[in-house]
Amino acid sequence: MGVLQIHERRDLRGEIRVPGDKSISHRAVMLGAVAEGTSRVEGFLPGADCLGTIECFRRMGVKIHRDGSETLTVEGQGWEGLREPETVLDVGNSGTTIRLMLGVLAGRPFHATVLGDESIGRRPMNRVVEPLRLMGARVDGRSKGSFTPLSVRGGQLTGITYRSQVASAQVKSSLLLAGLQGEGVTRVEEPALSRDHTERMLRAFGVKVDCDSQGVSVSGGQVLRAREIRVPGDISSAAFLIVAALIVPGSRLMIRDVGLNPTRTGILDVLQKMGGELEIIQTGEWNGEPVGDVTVSHSSLTGVEIGGDTIPRLIDEIPVLAVAATQAAGNTVIRDAAELKVKESDRIAATAQELRKLGGRVEETDDGLVIEGKTPLTGGPCDSHGDHRIGMAMAVAGLVAAGRTTVTRVEAIDVSFPEFASLLEGL
Ligand code: S3P
Repeated sequence: MGVLQIHERRDLRGEIRVPGDKSISHRAVMLGAVAEGTSRVEGFLPGADCLGTIECFRRMGVKIHRDGSETLTVEGQGWEGLREPETVLDVGNSGTTIRLMLGVLAGRPFHATVLGDESIGRRPMNRVVEPLRLMGARVDGRSKGSFTPLSVRGGQLTGITYRSQVASAQVKSSLLLAGLQGEGVTRVEEPALSRDHTERMLRAFGVKVDCDSQGVSVSGGQVLRAREIRVPGDISSAAFLIVAALIVPGSRLMIRDVGLNPTRTGILDVLQKMGGELEIIQTGEWNGEPVGDVTVSHSSLTGVEIGGDTIPRLIDEIPVLAVAATQAAGNTVIRDAAELKVKESDRIAATAQELRKLGGRVEETDDGLVIEGKTPLTGGPCDSHGDHRIGMAMAVAGLVAAGRTTVTRVEAIDVSFPEFASLLEGL
């Protein structure tokens, strides 16, 4: 069991880059695999989740070469070139791998068994299984196909219009990937716009994707054309360092080449609203994704109330936002975030429980958290709950907690940010 020891710090300074975006890295492998021709991917995130996606597609006969840790060559097979896997497809801890891959498998004329770790076994799969069945896929599994292990026999699909109950990019992307293999138009509508990396990357691969204020549609039968993908730094990883710099006195950090997709920058907006000194400069666009530099300085923060459409734009950053809130004057209220209960851990419970261990005054609500500020934290033992983002959030809390904080089960961090501890150490 990995343990991370964190001491109270001052003056986090430096100019850094964070590893590649996890969502974009998964999609680069998957779209590259089903495209015609060879795609090259630069800046790939070599975290456990994305390496798992590579392994799953290799098992379906796709040749994927790693030329160095962050560069890939993906020999696309076209949809028809994917082969029936001889063994189970194990997604490890990755919800994105399993849900998006189910969309790919739904249209393939073969059988596959898909499973993951204990955490994946607790996460709801019916949100993709149900609409994929409506399109014509045959999926079975535990609890009538609501949980892993799942067994898929794909085949002829027909486009549907699907109104998702949750704003989930994994659901939306899964259905779009299935829809591309089906007959007619597949349309997905969601209660609020979730991250749109799939839409942007599909366009980069030459697919026509129609977006309007209500939803997104694709027509079946479109061919993806291989291309070069440059993956921006992951704003969700950057968020840990941004919050660290905001709350640790004397800090100033510049983070270069971070993805600034507006469906992901909710955390920057909210931290600015809290009084965070952030300078954000867009420097370019990489395969349809805005990219730029973020400079952040230690700031006095004030609590905020957030909910509604903002939540999907910062869903993965809420644990570390809660850490920032413990150091902000006044209360912070987070609403409409019940989705956090079905992430890698129950992040509402885990965040509240772990911050309280360090003296944080944090209450769980049905759909979020209430965090009282400004609270002095005291170092002590806490745990990642096997969840990368809880582990990193607690390490950031440890930077402002008096004395020493130990975080257990930090091997979970390898899922998205393997260099987190060394990068923090080096600042
Ligand atoms: C992701 C979508 C989000 C996010 C996850 C990555 C993606 O999940 O929390 O870390 O890459 O599509 P949901 O689609 O379940 O909201």
